[in-house]
Amino acid sequence: MLHIENDDFIKLTEFIKARYGLNLADRKVLVESRLSNYVLDCGFDSFAEYLNLVYGDSTQREVANMINRLTTNHTYFMRESTHFSHMMETFLPIAEKQIKDRMLCIWSAGCSFGNEPYNIAMCLDDYFGMKRYQWDLKILATDISFNALKSASNGVYSEASLENIPQKWREKYFCRADFGDYRVVDDIRNNVVFKYHNLMEDISFKHAFHLIYCRNVMIYFNEETKSRLCKKLYAATEPGGYLYIGHAESAPADMMYLKESTAIYRKEGDLR
Ligand SMILES: C[S@@+](CC[C@H](N)C(=O)[O-])C[C@H]1O[C@@H](n2cnc3c(N)ncnc32)[C@H](O)[C@@H]1O
Repeated sequence: MLHIENDDFIKLTEFIKARYGLNLADRKVLVESRLSNYVLDCGFDSFAEYLNLVYGDSTQREVANMINRLTTNHTYFMRESTHFSHMMETFLPIAEKQIKDRMLCIWSAGCSFGNEPYNIAMCLDDYFGMKRYQWDLKILATDISFNALKSASNGVYSEASLENIPQKWREKYFCRADFGDYRVVDDIRNNVVFKYHNLMEDISFKHAFHLIYCRNVMIYFNEETKSRLCKKLYAATEPGGYLYIGHAESAPADMMYLKESTAIYRKEGDLR
């Protein structure tokens, strides 16, 4: 494995923290192991030479390549399923009653390989049934990993990764793909829009959101970064809207949302 000099490591982790919020300061071995082969394959003998390319690349392509390798994209269907239960049993009945124009906006922020936003789309279909067509249901799914986004928009998953999906949903929402894999059916896939978005940057989407899933993303952020992010998410949430965070994550001390229960937060007011 290629060794990264301390100075180079400090400069790199500060660069990544400032730009993406990720705190890798105590993850030297992880950085070395995830990047070593790639650095060598690019024809460099040292991290220092490779990092000069990263910092000097005005196209940002090399930064993106590096981030693809450094992000932790672990995800799976029905992860932390209490959120999906809360969504179907509490959030959607309120939304159905209170949102008069029937446009419902949900954001999966840090969507990784797409399991989370497709799971949301399945819940919406299951909840609304035929009434779904009377609604404009928008699901935005964003990430900083182009690799993850590409795989997400293909919507192809191994049979093993469907193990937590109820049998009825497997039959309804997946079809067979090549090599024994399964693909999310078009009707569900077309319900999700995938986009690159760095959560450290300003949020400038057209609509505010009634529900935001931002789960297992902040786990890699420090307190100050979490606080900045939660303020941005709050501003992008409709009054009465919800934020779900990962169960292993803690909210920042200055969280503006009201805590409803573990990993479930709400902005004061009624949905509209
Ligand atoms: C562990 S995955 C969580 C996926 C999914 N939300 C879940 O709970 O299963 C974390 C995701 O957050 C993304 N991420 C990390 N920092 C980000 C940032 N600054 N902006 C957007 N996405 C980010 C990573 O690329 C990764 O795909």
